[in-house]
Amino acid sequence: MDELHEYQEAFGRPVEVNALGRHAQTSVGASEGLETTAAMPKYGHDYAGKAGESSQSDKFGKAAERAQEGEAGKSGKKHAADNPDNPDNPDKAHKSDKPKKLKKSSKLGKGEPGGKAQQATAKLTKVKVPGLFTPMSLRQVQVRNRIWLPPMCMYSVQAQDGVATDFHYQHYVSRALGGFGLVIVESTAVSPQARISPCDLGLWNDRQEQALQRIATDVRAAGAVPVIQLNHAGRKASSGCSSLGYISRTVPADLGGWQPLAPSPLAYGKMDTPRQLGVGEIGAIVEDFAAAARRAVRAGFEGIEIHAAHGYLLSEFLDPLTNVRSDEYGGEFEHRIRLVVEVADAIRAAIPQTMPLLVRVSATDWAQGGWDLEQTIELARVLKAHGVDLVDVSTGAIVSGVYTPAKPGYQVPFAQQVRAQALVPTTAVGLITKPKQAECIVRWGQADAVEIGRAALRDPYWPLRAAYKLGLPTNQAPYPQAYLQGAYGTKR
Ligand SMILES: Cc1cc2nc3c(=O)[nH]c(=O)nc-3n(C[C@H](O)[C@H](O)[C@H](O)COP(=O)(O)O)c2cc1C
Repeated sequence: MDELHEYQEAFGRPVEVNALGRHAQTSVGASEGLETTAAMPKYGHDYAGKAGESSQSDKFGKAAERAQEGEAGKSGKKHAADNPDNPDNPDKAHKSDKPKKLKKSSKLGKGEPGGKAQQATAKLTKVKVPGLFTPMSLRQVQVRNRIWLPPMCMYSVQAQDGVATDFHYQHYVSRALGGFGLVIVESTAVSPQARISPCDLGLWNDRQEQALQRIATDVRAAGAVPVIQLNHAGRKASSGCSSLGYISRTVPADLGGWQPLAPSPLAYGKMDTPRQLGVGEIGAIVEDFAAAARRAVRAGFEGIEIHAAHGYLLSEFLDPLTNVRSDEYGGEFEHRIRLVVEVADAIRAAIPQTMPLLVRVSATDWAQGGWDLEQTIELARVLKAHGVDLVDVSTGAIVSGVYTPAKPGYQVPFAQQVRAQALVPTTAVGLITKPKQAECIVRWGQADAVEIGRAALRDPYWPLRAAYKLGLPTNQAPYPQAYLQGAYGTKR
């Protein structure tokens, strides 16, 4: 049995829905060999499949074409159900930072300590540079590795003025020092009404721009790529947060709340009913996104992420369950995606050609009759044609009261499908907590990078620990020079 097959035995196969599985095998193991790193840089770019260039991407392109002709179109729920159980238990993720000694017994089963998963992983650790630590380029921006910090709202602007505080500075710069390749600053509102809560960051005035400049500058100085997520919260605007209370409800005006805006007057859960946006107002929101992007460029960010996920304004327009308009922004697919595409165009025109543009999507709303994987793939194709460089694939949070089958890596198959079928780089996110789990995602080509969210809240140095666990020599790990004396594996 070759090493790739051992992996598959141990960790399960990547989702088998189309030729992607074949792609994963060809590119990762069978022809190139797991001991080589030569294939890895190709994961992150070269999606254009230019003649005479990477045979990898040609294979990839053809595989995806076959998939589109014959086997595309299965539902997101099916892919999620097919997702191999990951043997890594997130609860045990931090018990030890030492690589475990592996027992030899072949009787041990999938997921058991010393079992096939760990035996296979032992081979993984022989790889000179793990896939996670292979650099990646997005347009002219080089990212030092494929471990990224996803946007996570801190809801910590107590002054309710949208201005980043010292806490935000410490939070983001710590993760950059901790080795993350790309640090995405949390959902940042493009206007006061666009905030999720009164305590959100904003980027519509000079003070906000200056405070964010300090963060972008020092995230960059610490070796990470600073990216900012721009958002309009739509019908979920004016939500409560831990410091204000009113969780999942609308904050009243005397505590700083306001009436939410949305494509249609449909409330989210127990929140207030939003006011339907007029067409002129929609145009102004597109302008707000472009203006915030211009500020982000001036502040020193090296990439922009558009938030088109999780039931905020842009995803509300995408989803037929939240958008029941009958004008050019509602109804058929081309109308529902119009706003996202307009925002992408406006931002692309506002930022340098060298700067990457990312879009975060919910690949399914997990509800009957709503937004799903097929539409996401189609949207990704359109966005790619409009200058979007990478799709950050999440799911859910669009409609309330639906079941989300969360388990380790449960959103990875969506990132894999978008990547394979829209031929656009993706990141995977959601319950990716362990280095080996993350390494497999990148190595198999399920996504170009992984995002570590809550696990990074408890461990800002997650990438440094991952480097050690995956056997990367300290001098190649993303340590700040000043931390080398305390590197994992040092005796004192
Ligand atoms: C505290 C917190 C705040 C979040 N805020 C955002 C946000 O601002 N924008 C966004 O797109 N996702 C947000 N998310 C979702 C995360 O980016 C990520 O997708 C999610 O936590 C799943 O990844 P994980 O299992 O690694 O934590 C947030 C999640 C958490 C826990």
